[in-house]
This record gives sequence, C-alpha cells and structure tokens, in this order.
Amino acid sequence: MTTSPNEQLEVRAALSGTPLARRHEQTLGGKLARIPKALPWSAFRPSEHPRAALALATDFWMGLARGEYGAVGLFAKIATALTAAGAPFDLVYAATVASADETRHAEYALRMASLSGGKEATLSLDPAAFRAHLAPIANDEELDLTLVNSVAISETLATALLTACQRRASDRLSRSVLTAVLSDEVHHARLGWYYLAHRAPRWTTAERQRLADAAAEVVVHVEEEFWIGRDAPRSASVGARALGLLDSKSQRSVIDDVMENEILPGLDALGFGASRAWPLRRRGERRARR
Ligand SMILES: [Fe+2]
Ligand SMILES: [Fe+2]
Repeated sequence: MTTSPNEQLEVRAALSGTPLARRHEQTLGGKLARIPKALPWSAFRPSEHPRAALALATDFWMGLARGEYGAVGLFAKIATALTAAGAPFDLVYAATVASADETRHAEYALRMASLSGGKEATLSLDPAAFRAHLAPIANDEELDLTLVNSVAISETLATALLTACQRRASDRLSRSVLTAVLSDEVHHARLGWYYLAHRAPRWTTAERQRLADAAAEVVVHVEEEFWIGRDAPRSASVGARALGLLDSKSQRSVIDDVMENEILPGLDALGFGASRAWPLRRRGERRARR
C-alpha cells in the first residue's frame, strides 16, 4: 500500500504507464465506448439441435454462469484493493468495468442455460464457500497473487477457450453470445498483464519468487484441469460443434497452444521462469488412468 510517513494514503491522478493508460485516455475522451449490443435471443430453436448436444450445452453454460457470477465479486474486490493501494486510475477503472461486464456475462450464460435446458436454470452456490471467495484482499502481495492467477492466467485461458468455441459455433444465438462475452474477456486478460507489468519493477526478489512459485503451481495443473471437454456421442457431434462446444481433443490443443504461446512467455517476461515448470506438468492422461 502506498502510504506516506504520516500513514496517509496518497492518491494521485496518475496512470500506469502501460498501454492500458492510453486506452484509458481514449475511453475518457469518448473514443472507445464499449456498449452492449442487442442479442438475438428469439433466434434460438432447441428443436434444431440434437438432445445430447443441448444437454452438453446446458452444462457448458451453467459452468460458465458459475464462473462469471464468481468473477463479479472477484473484480469488485480487486477494484476495492486497488483503491486501498492508491493504484493508478486506469487499473482501478478497468477493474470496475470488468465487474460490470461479468454481471452481464453471468446473466447471458444463465439465459443460455435456460434456453438449452428447456427450463429456468438456477445457480446454486454454497454460501460459506461463496463468502470465502468474496473475502476482501488483505494486502499488496495477495492482490498481486490474485492478479497473476485469477486474472492474467485465468482470463487468458478463458479468452482462448471462448475464441475456439466462438469460431466453431454456427448457431446464431450461441455465436452472438460467445462473441459478446469474448470481446470483454480480452480486456480482462489485458488488465491482468498490464497490472503485473506495472507492479513488476516494484517487487523484491523474495516477492517475485513467491509469486513465481504460486504461478508454477497453476501451470503444472492447468492441462489436467482442462483435460476433459464436452464429448458428444457421434450422432450429436455436429450439433455440439454448432453450439460452440469443445470436445476433449480440441480443448487440450487450445490449452497447450495458449499456454505455450501466450501465458508462459508472459509469465517468463515477469521473471517467473514458468516455462521451466511447464514440462513438469501433471497430465490428465495419468489421472484418467488411475
Ligand atoms: Fe466473463
Ligand atoms: Fe472475465
């Protein structure tokens, strides 16, 4: 936290010095407004899709709704912690916008789950676990850690997965919703990386090492976590594709590609040596064989 000797929190109208600052200035200049577009909700025809594909789509959208709903609180507490740290305004602003984006994504995903499931979908959350998730970020180091794991890495993974889903989706509504969500996730991922670029010169060797260790822990488990996609029976595989669903094989190749071409180089640039952790990863194959 930035405090002066008399323990006052000094807040300046300063920006981060990263490319986010330029975007922020353009946004405040009215040049980069991100306004939600109307989505073609009435275009969805469940009868045109195989039942097995609709069941997998319901599972996909429910999973997404859960993640998005959690992300509302995640970015809200990040915004709170950034203000408590007197962080540059472009970072604070981006975190508050991200929280608002995630409310929209959670709503879209629940609506999609209802449409594909043929009945109103409801998120059911464990209150104690959800309260723990919403607990405030306690200090600068926890804030850095949150931005590494839950924003830079997670949002970059989400962007890559949703891009692959959006590219294969031929169903009009599915594609439109995926496009809308994706166009925001890109910004969330950037917030993570730009925040870390802003922070990196300020870390001590010990702080950097602790963050590197935490990132390595995520890196070695990520492939295993995403090993199983949504595999449709052969009769429904074309239908599942049309709804944007990724089978296991496609999902694994998306994860390997984004790890090797975006996430590991990004973490390495922060001095985390993540590409040394990647070959030590636990593969899902091993888990599946157990
Ligand atoms: Fe989202
Ligand atoms: Fe996001």
